[in-house]
Amino acid sequence: MQKITAAVTAVSGYVPEYRLTNKEIETMVDTNDEWIRTRTGVEERRILKGEGLGSSDLGVEAVKLLCAKRGIAPAEIDCLICATVTPDMVFPATANIICDKAGAVNAWGFDLQAACSGFLYALSTGSMYIESGRYKKVVVVGVDKMSSIIDYSDRATCIIFGDGAGAVLLEPNEEGYGMIDTILKSDGSGRSYLHMKAGGSVKPATVETVLAKEHYVYQEGQAVFKFAVKGMADVSYELMQKHNLTADDIAWLVPHQANLRIIDATANRMGLSKEKVMINIQKYGNTTAGTLPLCLWEWEPQLKKGDNIILAAFGGGFTWGATWLKWAYDGAVQGGTVND
Ligand code: UT7
Repeated sequence: MQKITAAVTAVSGYVPEYRLTNKEIETMVDTNDEWIRTRTGVEERRILKGEGLGSSDLGVEAVKLLCAKRGIAPAEIDCLICATVTPDMVFPATANIICDKAGAVNAWGFDLQAACSGFLYALSTGSMYIESGRYKKVVVVGVDKMSSIIDYSDRATCIIFGDGAGAVLLEPNEEGYGMIDTILKSDGSGRSYLHMKAGGSVKPATVETVLAKEHYVYQEGQAVFKFAVKGMADVSYELMQKHNLTADDIAWLVPHQANLRIIDATANRMGLSKEKVMINIQKYGNTTAGTLPLCLWEWEPQLKKGDNIILAAFGGGFTWGATWLKWAYDGAVQGGTVND
């Protein structure tokens, strides 16, 4: 019997309407459009506005659309994994809240936290449940409402991040399409460069931690940049070497959208021309766990059955990795564009 692989059979995305442009950021901190564009590639990002709205409200839109595109009811989902660093609450899991809001009444689910590599980690985890034969429909959501943990008076971080969600449906495939291989890595010693200082069990929230702005993203940008360039490029190259893949074999690189210069470095290392690289950082900035599925969603109409796609990410933890995904359907059939 042919081995069961976990194929992506539908992809969707959702971004909130509000566009925070570089021009508007110029009125908030000492920066300028040219610096932001040349140093990061970001031109605008989406922000979820409104009281009482969280990551689940972004994620549920992506899940509802995913089901509609695939023509399934949410009740058919067996398991939903939500990758996020901005859960609605510390507990319960945002996955549970998304399932409730979407009507995925038969699904169990959990959150997975690996910062900007969260979607890759979750994709790998979800695919195991399909490959083992245990489940038939696993949804992987990557979502972050980064605006909830960004200090909009800190010019080093507020220029980069945005809010957004993406989701994929994984189903069994016996023709060899879907997840082929993944290399995942982590190094906890990198935590000093990128973390949130308070709000965890080491330093619970107090009036002092709030006043000291310790519930926002703390990042030593330059150090993270160096690790990210090396980590994302090296692991992508390692995956190619492992499978004797050449640049010609690869149809698309789907890189985490943290900084255009990191993306360029990874593509160069892999020997890929720019036309093969999915880039939408200019529109959404860094949506953390949302970047990879948002790219797949936007490029879906161009994807063809059999395309070799490499997804790569690097993020807080440090966490990083690369995945080889063989696309399972002709994108034109299930088309669709990002809701902008
Ligand atoms: O996705 C999770 C992982 N995160 C990443 O991958 C992010 C990695 N890091 C980066 O993308 C970049 O380090 C940043 C975009 C965060 C910063 O860019 P950079 O080229 O590393 O800038 P820098 O921190 O080295 O700062 C260079 C200069 C400094 O001024 P001086 O000291 O040279 O006078 C900064 O104060 O640019 C200044 N600067 C700014 N100037 C205008 C920093 N932020 C800004 C700003 N506008 N927004």
